[in-house]
Amino acid sequence: MKAYDMVIKNGIIVTATDVYKADIGVKNEKIVEIAKEIDSNNAANVIDATDKYVFPGAIDVHTHLDMPFGGTVSSDNFETGTVAAAYGGTTTIIDFAIQSKGESLKKALEIWHNKAQGKAFIDYGFHIAITDMNDEILDEMKELIKEGYPSFKLFMTYEGLRVNDDVLLKALLLAKEEGGLICVHAENFYIIDYLVKKFVREGKTHPKFHALSRPTIAEWEAVSRAIKVAQFANAPLYIVHLSCMEALKEVTYARNRGLPIMAETCPQYLLLSEERYEEEGFNGAKYVMSPPLRSSEHLQALWEGLKCGQLQVVSTDHCPFFLKGQKDLGKDSFDKIPNGAPGIELRLALLFSYGVMTKRITLQQFVEIISTNPAKIFGLYPQKGTVTIGSDADLVIFDPSIEKRVTKELLHENDDYTPYEGFKITGLPVTTIVRGKVVIKDGKLVGQKGYGKFLKRKNLMVV
Ligand code: URP
Ligand code: ZN
Ligand code: ZN
Repeated sequence: MKAYDMVIKNGIIVTATDVYKADIGVKNEKIVEIAKEIDSNNAANVIDATDKYVFPGAIDVHTHLDMPFGGTVSSDNFETGTVAAAYGGTTTIIDFAIQSKGESLKKALEIWHNKAQGKAFIDYGFHIAITDMNDEILDEMKELIKEGYPSFKLFMTYEGLRVNDDVLLKALLLAKEEGGLICVHAENFYIIDYLVKKFVREGKTHPKFHALSRPTIAEWEAVSRAIKVAQFANAPLYIVHLSCMEALKEVTYARNRGLPIMAETCPQYLLLSEERYEEEGFNGAKYVMSPPLRSSEHLQALWEGLKCGQLQVVSTDHCPFFLKGQKDLGKDSFDKIPNGAPGIELRLALLFSYGVMTKRITLQQFVEIISTNPAKIFGLYPQKGTVTIGSDADLVIFDPSIEKRVTKELLHENDDYTPYEGFKITGLPVTTIVRGKVVIKDGKLVGQKGYGKFLKRKNLMVV
């Protein structure tokens, strides 16, 4: 019997705090040794990582796989979506189990467990999106926090999903008491509803009116309100897919006063601007997502927010729909276009190319944003999110010398387009390891469907 199941030799290990050259020994799914030199004769499998970075497996805390939404279902399921994630260096996702009206949270979880069971190539957890609150649901929240589901999402907009401030307050008070975390999709429903109806009435139906009906003030107001309700409840709050500088200022102001407010943004809000809605014909529909893409000054502000630590996470909000056959449900009017876009595969490559290579963020910050902070905030640290003895052997070997142009054909997402077509990429994950098993080897899928396991989470941290 060999001492190690795997030894990774000569890689440059990067954590949120360190960059150093060392070998990594893996046994029984865990990292068991990190040393300057580990004898590879003692290993069943040796991987040479010379001139490559070794990152902790990336964690994407915002995905929508196999999700009914906007009159259709997101086009990646737990098989195709986790394969694409693994190609991109992501070893864990946290997806959203969405409660239907009149349904218990446990029922929503049962449905989402069935979607994922036996399909995932990488590990996964679930947030629960609450759409129908009452006293029984509050009791369920209490129970579920203890059972490994400590994070909940509330939509402040979207007809049929949204909740009012009384629900937000009750959920925050309970989460504070029981050690849970409330995440919010923060946009003002009434501003959006007013503008959507007005544009439709005026015959303004092109995809660009999606963005015009969701101005930054709608996000700003809702972020500001959610923060104030959280402050009143003395509870931590996590704002999902933050897209604009006014909202970022609210987060910064709150954090500077010591409030436990955290926020994520996504590659689309860092790299794509509102001009995309002007693309020929119906192509603007590719970028119909909520919040929408913003003007370039917002992109700049978000990069600053990452650099200064006022934004703690970059997730993808991967919610793919085919342009032909799904997005075109809204061919006649923007308000019928399913909201969402693909992105699960390119998060690391984009953030490395346009963040690290351009010196907007450091290599350590990159790791913090894509792995360590998500693990800490959502109760997976230090099992995941770092490279240390005792952690799961979730590792990404990343080759910074690869240069490519993004094409849809390069990717494994189940969609007929990528919003990043033509983007120049420097650096790509080449090997992805989940709990000591190689899932992607030198750019090829070698993992097994169903290997990915459900993760119970606890001990959430405020970062
Ligand atoms: O447009 C988006 N973001 N679609 C996914 C659902 C959500 O709001 O997160
Ligand atoms: Zn959302
Ligand atoms: Zn989302």
